[in-house]
Amino acid sequence: MKGYDFPGPALELGALVKDDGTADPSSPIRVPLAMMNRHGLVAGATGTGKTKTLQLMAEQLSGQGVPVFLADVKGDLSGMASPGLPSDRTARRAAEVGQTWAGTACPVEFYSLGGIGEGVPLRATMTAFGPTLLAKVLGLNETQESSLGLIFYFADKHGMPLLDLKDLIAVIQYLTDTPEVLKGVGGLSGATAGVILRALINFQSQGADAFFGEPEFDARDLLRQAPDGRGFVSILELPAVQDRPRLFSTFLMWLLADLFEALPEVGDPDKPKLVFFFDEAHLLFSDASRAFLESITQTVRLIRSKGVGVFLVTQTPKDVPADVLAQLGARVQHALRAFTPQDAKDLRATVSTFPESSYDLQRLLTELGIGEAVVTVLSESGAPTPVAWTRLRAPQSLMAPSDPSVVHEVIAASPLQAKYGTAVDRESAYEMLSARLAAHEAPADSYGAPPKEPRREEEQKKSVLENVLGSSEFHAMARSAASALGREITRSIFGTARRRR
Ligand SMILES: Nc1ncnc2c1ncn2[C@@H]1O[C@H](COP(=O)(O)OP(=O)(O)OP(=O)(O)O)[C@@H](O)[C@H]1O
Ligand SMILES: [Mg+2]
Repeated sequence: MKGYDFPGPALELGALVKDDGTADPSSPIRVPLAMMNRHGLVAGATGTGKTKTLQLMAEQLSGQGVPVFLADVKGDLSGMASPGLPSDRTARRAAEVGQTWAGTACPVEFYSLGGIGEGVPLRATMTAFGPTLLAKVLGLNETQESSLGLIFYFADKHGMPLLDLKDLIAVIQYLTDTPEVLKGVGGLSGATAGVILRALINFQSQGADAFFGEPEFDARDLLRQAPDGRGFVSILELPAVQDRPRLFSTFLMWLLADLFEALPEVGDPDKPKLVFFFDEAHLLFSDASRAFLESITQTVRLIRSKGVGVFLVTQTPKDVPADVLAQLGARVQHALRAFTPQDAKDLRATVSTFPESSYDLQRLLTELGIGEAVVTVLSESGAPTPVAWTRLRAPQSLMAPSDPSVVHEVIAASPLQAKYGTAVDRESAYEMLSARLAAHEAPADSYGAPPKEPRREEEQKKSVLENVLGSSEFHAMARSAASALGREITRSIFGTARRRR
């Protein structure tokens, strides 16, 4: 098909399907590798082939030296670590689309969120995660979100590293217990601080401690190549936290924001530095605050010049806000259902987002076979290619989960285990200061000072923090903590922060 014969390196998606429904192997449908940082959308109803499309693109990127990150929500992408099994169906599809198929495993790295599930544990410190993303995880409203921002600002200003959840909880407890200080923060009400505090304690009781703390993941570890030059496929295994969609979708956003901050500008490189596939992307956008949506839009817009491509995977383009959708250069639209009036409406909306074509898209989109899609991408000059009904190639890695023994082997062999395998509970502001104060108080007792009234535990905690934060020791320590961080904490687009590592 005209418009797809790019001279440079490209990903081979499949072959054009002719009006009679047969594929034409002499009309390959492709995406220029250099355009993979111009983002894309893979959409379609369940079971239509979205995940296989993602697998297909990921393994070809890897094969051309581009590292890939993918979130594996259902556990079916672990198959990328194993060669695909030959079958009649695969052979037939390969012949139809002109593919020379050979079962091939990719170089894979498995990650898990906070060590829950299989893979190298991925964690973020509270400081780095920042208020905007945390507010999204906690489901806070806009007032509460901006209040959380003030609390982080207070901690940042005092050079208090919030490494884990309990650090943040301690700071809020201190604020709610000390009205004078709370007043100084300005714009933060005790009632709102109390609501946030309860939300955090509740979150903590659900085991969220595992996700926050050190060692913090450095997103640049995703940009690795195997010794043979192929890009690593980093797979975040999410089945164990599947029931916490707000948590994992927000973590994915943090990774992207962290990459954005870590990477230098590269303009438009020959090939991307990394391609980031964001599965179940609708989770990001549902109940998102305006500030959050703006941050996503901005991150997606700007990360392109850092050589990172973002592909959103979701059921319908309607899941994605228009400002974000407008930045997605490649479109792979699998079949949509048209059962209900709402389906029909969504279908019309989807059709309206495609460039003009001679297809009756409204009909075609409901009739596409599994592993077929309507495709339009950006040519090497950045112009949209003609809309093409495409039968996709079959992935060459396994189209099913890898055997658990393969997954275990990959994880055990990972050089990242040594770096991230074990959680560290380094002393953060709260612990250091509590310890100092305790040491300070001890001598007084030994001089025979009258024994203090026994107090309830919370009151003791409060007084420790109160004294500590007001003390000159605290200010000295806060200064040294700030310089240990290398600089004052400055927050970027998403309110995330990055420490010099
Ligand atoms: N490109 C392809 N080559 C070969 N088989 C495919 C291809 N795409 C899809 N299939 C077949 O269709 C099945 C469903 O595909 P897939 O898991 O990718 O759907 P999905 O859209 O991700 O579904 P869900 O929304 O439920 O996750 C696969 O298990 C496979 O058998
Ligand atoms: Mg899927």
